[in-house]
Amino acid sequence: MNLLGFVFSLFIIGVSSKCQRCFGEDFMWGAATSAHQIEGAWNTSGKGENVWDWFTHNYPEKVRNGSNADIATDSYNKYQEDVDLLGNLGANFYRFSLSWSRILPNGTTNNINQEGVDYYLNVLKALQEKNITPIVTLYHWDLPISLHEMGGWNNPLVADYFNDYATLCYSLFGDYVKYWLTLNEPISQCYYGYGSGGHAPGYTESGTMTYMCAYTQLLAHAKAYRSYNETFRAKQNGKVGIVLVTLWYEPATESDADKQAAEWAIQWALGLFGHPIFIGNWPQMVIDRIGNLSVAQGFNTSRLPAFTETEIELIKGTYDYLGLNYYTTLLASPLLDFTDYENVTVGYGYDRNVLSSYDPSWTQSPVSWVTLFDVPAGFRAMLNWVANNFGNPPVIITENGWSTYIDLLNDTDRIQYIKGHLCSIYKAKYVDKVNLFGYAHWSLMDNFEWSSGYSEGFGLVSVDFTSPNRTRTPKASYYYYQKIIKSNCLEHCSLNN
Ligand SMILES: *[C@@H]1O[C@H](CO)[C@@H](O)[C@H](O)[C@H]1NC(C)=O
Ligand SMILES: *[C@@H]1O[C@H](CO)[C@@H](O)[C@H](O)[C@H]1NC(C)=O
Ligand SMILES: *[C@@H]1O[C@H](CO)[C@@H](O)[C@H](O)[C@H]1NC(C)=O
Ligand SMILES: *[C@@H]1O[C@H](CO)[C@@H](O)[C@H](O)[C@H]1NC(C)=O
Ligand SMILES: *[C@@H]1O[C@H](CO)[C@@H](O)[C@H](O)[C@H]1NC(C)=O
Ligand SMILES: *[C@@H]1O[C@H](CO)[C@@H](O)[C@H](O)[C@H]1NC(C)=O
Ligand SMILES: *[C@@H]1O[C@H](CO)[C@@H](O)[C@H](O)[C@H]1NC(C)=O
Repeated sequence: MNLLGFVFSLFIIGVSSKCQRCFGEDFMWGAATSAHQIEGAWNTSGKGENVWDWFTHNYPEKVRNGSNADIATDSYNKYQEDVDLLGNLGANFYRFSLSWSRILPNGTTNNINQEGVDYYLNVLKALQEKNITPIVTLYHWDLPISLHEMGGWNNPLVADYFNDYATLCYSLFGDYVKYWLTLNEPISQCYYGYGSGGHAPGYTESGTMTYMCAYTQLLAHAKAYRSYNETFRAKQNGKVGIVLVTLWYEPATESDADKQAAEWAIQWALGLFGHPIFIGNWPQMVIDRIGNLSVAQGFNTSRLPAFTETEIELIKGTYDYLGLNYYTTLLASPLLDFTDYENVTVGYGYDRNVLSSYDPSWTQSPVSWVTLFDVPAGFRAMLNWVANNFGNPPVIITENGWSTYIDLLNDTDRIQYIKGHLCSIYKAKYVDKVNLFGYAHWSLMDNFEWSSGYSEGFGLVSVDFTSPNRTRTPKASYYYYQKIIKSNCLEHCSLNN
């Protein structure tokens, strides 16, 4: 090497090390799945039917190709392979969920399915053997059918059944589990399940049921949090949180109306659930807006169920940490003028009053059912919004990921997405001082993607759904993420912009 080459390579090293960003040693890396999307074994080993079993079997037209999760990735039988994949990945933690109807076939504690309990104990032991911390979601959208028949999340008493179930899980699994998450993305379940109807149970009453569901889920979360705090914390010394999500919204233009639309979009997702938990009661603008529209629409009382003072106090402060999911960003403008009550029909969309659009320069997923763009800056912005609005609580990213063709092993688009998004959270943590302590990629492997069936994949690992073996094959992104976890550093992450 001549002198010039030597100087030149020093320059390269200088530049690259300047952009190398390392996370602290206690930062946790992981991957995520959920029970219904991976387990299969839907009607064996004592499991009861859940609302997604019922939905996919009775309304196959609601799912791409009429697919269901009867077998999914067969993780009920192949969990050891999943744990091995996590081990090779170098994951510090695995976020997965328990199937309520596998443990309680009828949803209620009068009938405990020991085979289901043993299955989760086996998963927990396998994880322990590889030193992988379990982060366990109690409920990821798979309500036992018997509770659906009682009205599901429209029935506030279901909150008490959830509390019974949660309490049982603390006592059965609490020696292994130190990180609990009560509910996954209540806004998604309450909107898609009770509002737009695209998800189980398929109701389309977004102006009423979406809020009833939100009300019941907040009570369910709060009761389960308090049961842990009062009865288990002293002995088990774990933490309990909830998983919230929003699409991030930027104002479409710098106009005040667009800024308000963007803020409302966030409030109707993160605010609807975060405000009661971190501050107390629903956000005031949500109370006022739905109250005023309800009057104009001829309702006697607000379509948004009012919390009693006791309920406000019950829900307030029920967190030890927060799980956050982020996928993408959109642009916001008002759907109608904010003062136009004439043309407003009953529905969540008109309540929040947001017209979404996107920037054509953003890279779009080639397959995603819900529009998915690769916009890393929105991730940092969302984390800052949460820190600023909710008092900078401890946060762990419980989902973040990219969807593409399921058989694509050389998934360079996912690698690009991961690269940008990890740089974005690095800046949120180390520049903006957001209290972030971990990151889970969604998902460990391709799986049953709800109404998309198996037509798109979010996995680091591909699964051959045509083989009875459900053969798992790591994709290029798996090895990329493995390298990041091992080094605990990002190679190219500029702090500018
Ligand atoms: C529980 O659910 C099963 C079906 O999963 C049903 O056959 C049984 O009657 C139910 N038992 C009770 C006690 O409700
Ligand atoms: C379980 O479901 C499968 C379809 O996924 C069906 O073929 C089988 O007969 C069912 N088994 C029982 C015991 O109902
Ligand atoms: C949790 O329990 C402790 C007492 O063990 C109590 O001081 C604290 O206020 C409780 N937290 C909540 C949010 O209820
Ligand atoms: C209508 O909104 C105003 C604030 O803009 C609020 O003071 C009032 O209580 C609301 N009315 C109802 C019925 O909710
Ligand atoms: C609803 O409001 C109407 C008109 O103000 C009134 O006649 C009716 O009794 C009210 N119903 C209830 C259940 O409050
Ligand atoms: C879904 O159906 C389409 C068209 O019938 C087919 O090409 C595709 O392979 C199917 N995908 C899955 C995952 O079954
Ligand atoms: C499934 O796995 C078994 C055991 O590893 C193997 O013998 C068999 O060939 C595989 N079948 C398929 C269809 O891949």
